[in-house]
Amino acid sequence: MEENKDTAKAGAGAAPEEHHGGKFMAGRRAFLGAFAGCIGALGAGLVGVPLLASFTPVQRGKPEPAILNLDDIPKGGSARGVYAGYSFMVFNRKSGIEAISLKCTHLGCTVKWEPAKQIFRCPCHDGWYNKHGVNKGGPPPAPLEHLAYKIVGSKLIVGGA
Ligand code: FES
Repeated sequence: MEENKDTAKAGAGAAPEEHHGGKFMAGRRAFLGAFAGCIGALGAGLVGVPLLASFTPVQRGKPEPAILNLDDIPKGGSARGVYAGYSFMVFNRKSGIEAISLKCTHLGCTVKWEPAKQIFRCPCHDGWYNKHGVNKGGPPPAPLEHLAYKIVGSKLIVGGA
């Protein structure tokens, strides 16, 4: 009967040879480890940077005022704008101009103007306000914010006044 030389060596008390690739495998493991580290760092950067950016305030310092053309808001009319990252509406009423923030005072959802009912309704928890932004129903604890404005020539400058 013929015996395999390796088996014969192992059987003779010699330690079996390990074939794990030696230096080649060690280099490969190091490369794969470094590659995985790079991929992990890239992934952390892709997720982490936008996540951290979302924690920083949208604007620093005093927000820029919104500038509207008075010609676009005839008596009895309205217009929309954005100030400090939130929408607002301007109404040119008999009593004068009102600039009302559309940020719900409950949890900050954007309220919707319902012209037929002359109310602002919040779609989040069904809070509602009258046409002057006074909270009338649902969870909002306070009226909608009235924004300061000034008129300069033919421009209505809302916020930052
Ligand atoms: S956020 Fe407007 S009612 Fe809750």
